[in-house]
Amino acid sequence: MLRHARTALILLHLTVGCALGAAAPATLLPDPIYPDLGQPGLDVQHYDIHLTVPQPGTPWLRAQVRIDLQAKLPLNDIRLDYQGPTVLSVQWNGMPVPYHLQASPAKLIIPRALPTGAAATLTIVTAGDTRGLPDPTLPIQLGWQSVPASPEQPGANFAFSEPDGTHTFLPCNDHPSDPATFTTHLTVPQDVQAVASGRRTGETQHPDGTHTLTYTLDTPIPTYALGIHIGTLQEVRRPAALLPTQSVDLSDYFPTSVPLDVRAPYQRTTDILKVLTDWFGPYPFATYGSVVVTPPLPALETASLSTMPVRSSRERVIVHELAHQWFGNAVPLARWSDTWLNEGFATYAELLWAEANAQDTTPLLASWRDRLRGGTRPLTATTQAELFDSTAYARGALTLHALRQQVGDPAFRTFLQTYARTRAAQPTQTADLLSLSRQYLGADAETLLRRWIDRPTLPAIP
Ligand code: TRP
Ligand code: ZN
Repeated sequence: MLRHARTALILLHLTVGCALGAAAPATLLPDPIYPDLGQPGLDVQHYDIHLTVPQPGTPWLRAQVRIDLQAKLPLNDIRLDYQGPTVLSVQWNGMPVPYHLQASPAKLIIPRALPTGAAATLTIVTAGDTRGLPDPTLPIQLGWQSVPASPEQPGANFAFSEPDGTHTFLPCNDHPSDPATFTTHLTVPQDVQAVASGRRTGETQHPDGTHTLTYTLDTPIPTYALGIHIGTLQEVRRPAALLPTQSVDLSDYFPTSVPLDVRAPYQRTTDILKVLTDWFGPYPFATYGSVVVTPPLPALETASLSTMPVRSSRERVIVHELAHQWFGNAVPLARWSDTWLNEGFATYAELLWAEANAQDTTPLLASWRDRLRGGTRPLTATTQAELFDSTAYARGALTLHALRQQVGDPAFRTFLQTYARTRAAQPTQTADLLSLSRQYLGADAETLLRRWIDRPTLPAIP
């Protein structure tokens, strides 16, 4: 038995080694924690989305989604994740095509086969009320959020989807191992603002009292990271951030009801962007900003446009979500069990920012240890409940700190930048980080990382 298991492990290892550099996105599916999400062998390149929201604050939505896709393996049919409003039509390369809605797991199935390498375009039109999906651990609904109008504020809607809420309002290959680029067209009443991940590339007024705003995101991201916000938002433009190799346009968006003290910490975004770029290398998008939302939710690193609840409007959370733009958004997960690659890196950025401000980092390090007093686990998660637990965040961050203590700042910086550059748009798992550590930092660094990743208990910091 044991020998059998070990042989399987070695084989797995060889497979991972061979896949390096020529990462085959979909071959890691099905995901052990989310076996029903995504279709093995389906590779979506681009989503072009038209959303019409006639009454912001209500769950009603019309969506037209064009999906440019390719087969990485022979496909007998196309199976998109979908449990949203009524499907009105489906077209395959511009022609109507039959389709089938499966309830569990929730799929929109199109009976069209594709050989390896073949491409096709699907266009799907839906309309109706959206319904959320419960978060695996938090008492919140994932997917399209509706904030009804109140005496204090007009109605709003926004996307809030990690890990699997996007397919409650858009048919998609809803797994981070298939990142794609997005064009998002939002049609809303004239007096309502609409913003999405990417840079604004169009605005059209219509005679019926609505307008359409278009946003383009050229860097591939996972489906859960698509940011969309509709409401009475005030745009606060900041001076463009002039970084060593790029200029980044910065705008934050605040509901009119949000007071000045909530808005103040966002003035630091430019400085944070500079510090993080210094550690992580080029920022992955052309624009950045935060959208403040009023419901009591966690913050979410929606691409180029973080979603920031009022109560998360603090410097440390701003740093955390900005760091996810590299780790999670540009570098996507290959499987959900490796959330520590997102959360550990984003949490560690909080310490890098504190240091850059000449703050004592002892309390932060102590707080991470404290969070693990109740217990910890090896870094690869095995259940949904573990995906966003304190091990993913605090042990993940301490792991990077231990590595840094061992290799020193210059090597650590080069390593972070190499990881961010070489893994961009490549579905990434713990084994990829390990092989990169051996390649760039040597066998001792890899050994240290393995201890931190695999041991049931917390190792000592060098
Ligand atoms: N990734 C989010 C953050 O770091 C946290 C998070 C986990 C989350 N699960 C979520 C946010 C579900 C929104 C919804 O910062
Ligand atoms: Zn995070």
